[in-house]
Amino acid sequence: MKVFSTSAEIYTHVLRERLEGKRVGLVPTMGALHEGHVSLVRQAKSVCDRAVATIFVNPTQFGPKEDLSKYPRTLNEDLEKLDQAGCDYVFTPAELQMYGEGHSTYVEPPQVASRWEGEIRPGHFRGVCTIVLKLFQMIPADIAYLGRKDYQQLAVIRAMVRDLNIPVCIEACETIREPDGLAMSSRNRYLSHEQRHRALGLIRALRIAERLVERGERDVQAVESAMRQELLAAPVDSIDYAAIVDPVTLEPIAEIESSVVAIIAARLGSTRLIDNATIIARR
Ligand code: PAF
Repeated sequence: MKVFSTSAEIYTHVLRERLEGKRVGLVPTMGALHEGHVSLVRQAKSVCDRAVATIFVNPTQFGPKEDLSKYPRTLNEDLEKLDQAGCDYVFTPAELQMYGEGHSTYVEPPQVASRWEGEIRPGHFRGVCTIVLKLFQMIPADIAYLGRKDYQQLAVIRAMVRDLNIPVCIEACETIREPDGLAMSSRNRYLSHEQRHRALGLIRALRIAERLVERGERDVQAVESAMRQELLAAPVDSIDYAAIVDPVTLEPIAEIESSVVAIIAARLGSTRLIDNATIIARR
């Protein structure tokens, strides 16, 4: 596995692979890797000839009240995990490499960024879109692998790729969960034992939504209220949202008709967790 820190090096190597006819898969990350990230690399390797991972804690996607300096940085362990997963190239740029002096160009995020995370974390998706577009420019991959756990991020990146005609396919990968159902996240390490236990309210709330829809419930408010009740029973410390939305636009819907997504964001102490489930309403 080769590790590069300049865009010139990674661009040259990836471009050479592409020109030789190799298919290249890209896994963008902010490090603090867990089994979810590793599974993205494995999927990239199962389909592509080469897998490239990036590790960059992107400052522009953190709000002023979000502690960028507290974000876990575990580079040596990350590199070991990537190597074991069969990753071929890793790009670990310094901040100045990504945001050079005088950098002042940002991507205006698509419409699908406006609610939920976009409302609660103003500027977050502007930072995500900007860094992801920059990574797509520096690493001309065939396929980018992104986790479904960050469902809105996935929808935002898909829309950006479509709207800006970026020549990369986006592959959405299943959320990897702990045996008890907690979605894997770099933020789980902040949870105390007791908070970790209460965090299971998120997956329980999603399962309740799934069960209700499976049994024929079509009233959005009834499902959302059951999700909230479960979260409050856990109890989580606060709920940012627990909603049933359209899977593409992420807009609230009036009635459950076909496929919907249940999305949740809740806090346990100072840790904010998100999770989601796609639910198919059978007729
Ligand atoms: O999901 C993440 O880890 C980040 O938002 C991403 C896509 C790597 C951009 O910094």
